[in-house]
Amino acid sequence: MEDLSPRPGDLDAIETASRDEIAALQLERMKWSLRHAYENSRFYRARLDAAGVHPSDLKSLADLAKFPFTTKKDLRDTYPFGMFAVPREKLVRIHGSSGTTGKPTVVGYTQKDIDTWADMVARSIRAAGGRPGDMVHVAYGYGLFTGGLGAHYGAERLGCTVVPMSGGMTERQVTLIEDFRPRIIMVTPSYMLSILDEFRRQGIDSRECSLAVGIFGAEPWTNAMRLEIEQSFDMHAVDIYGLSEVMGPGVASECVETKDGLHIWEDHFYPEIIDPATGAVLPDGEMGELVFTTLTKEGLPIIRYRTRDLTRLLPGTARSMRRIEKITGRCDDMMILRGVNVFPTQIEEQILKCRGLAPHFQIELSRSGRMDQMTVHVECTSEAADEIARASSAKSLAHYIKSVVGVTTKVEIRDPGGVARSEGKAKRVVDNRPKE
Ligand code: DLL
Repeated sequence: MEDLSPRPGDLDAIETASRDEIAALQLERMKWSLRHAYENSRFYRARLDAAGVHPSDLKSLADLAKFPFTTKKDLRDTYPFGMFAVPREKLVRIHGSSGTTGKPTVVGYTQKDIDTWADMVARSIRAAGGRPGDMVHVAYGYGLFTGGLGAHYGAERLGCTVVPMSGGMTERQVTLIEDFRPRIIMVTPSYMLSILDEFRRQGIDSRECSLAVGIFGAEPWTNAMRLEIEQSFDMHAVDIYGLSEVMGPGVASECVETKDGLHIWEDHFYPEIIDPATGAVLPDGEMGELVFTTLTKEGLPIIRYRTRDLTRLLPGTARSMRRIEKITGRCDDMMILRGVNVFPTQIEEQILKCRGLAPHFQIELSRSGRMDQMTVHVECTSEAADEIARASSAKSLAHYIKSVVGVTTKVEIRDPGGVARSEGKAKRVVDNRPKE
């Protein structure tokens, strides 16, 4: 694969600034952001008053810990426009996150917010090895979801040629990749696997296609999956993270030259890691829940938003800004089986160790008597589809899960194509336990 390290002069000055410079900028911007939220969002004024804090109480970055958290529930309670800090007329765009039930959480952007977002996604694409003039195939969904339009504006900002394909119509995805020859694809990792299947179905060698870089995010995925995708397409696979409440894709992104976790674009988003049970701020390096405060957002400033995502903060490497380790999973996706915490990403890692299995899987939770039970539904590869191979794959997977993750599971091997494909974010867990 090509060496895609940035050339001198490619980066924004802040990407290589000293920690002191970054912290100084953060403090100045955080003071502005708290004041802006307090003065212009009725929600935040009431929230801060109730907590007995005022923006002027923030003298150092550490003082942020005195301020109350914001949660998804706050966005739901103020649905649709109750948290904004500018008049609705000043918003140029609305997005929403689907959630599993009911109404979406609504977020809004001023023109300046859209510009910042485009800059951050452009920076992310460049970190992934993208350059002006590249063609970028965007297969994240367009619509209320921030993936499609977020990627789109960022790619345009970098000076790329964008193919706004959106998700779905998998056969056509392959046709357009073959005919247009994009260098970059932006898509969820699980949908990339569906595209890979389609290459195979059409008898096209995916390693020969034009793609040199894939920028994957919107759902947890492992380094084992990275390897699988990189080998299948002979391309670089890098991780991009974000969430609509904070902005969308491009809050943090991996650098292609190191692929060692995601640099947070700390000039716009201030990260903390907290203990999800107590809310206490944890030191860098410790695992916990990721919390973000926006530093420059006008439409929807967010103070200490609890993402529910679990990771840890690490020092910068390819850039000065701190990194997050690849997300382990969401607090909400954590399964507890006989006292052992299990995440879908751990199951993914074990599946990718088994030669006869394809990385398409779904986890089913059920209850027999008072015991919770986990069944992993996973596909065999077409080369390992006979009875003997299936039995052996099932046995190896159950063994790896037991010995590495520490839980006993049932494994059901499905035919190739037997697990539902995603066109966006994969649904990894199906909970069939009776509701209490
Ligand atoms: O998923 C934004 C996005 C689009 C990010 C495209 C990257 C690429 P939401 O729909 O609001 O926004 O969902 C946000 O998705 O809190 C995480 O749980 C999860 N997530 C996003 N990126 C990653 C990632 C978009 N790289 C939620 N790794 C977040 C793991 C991710 N989880």
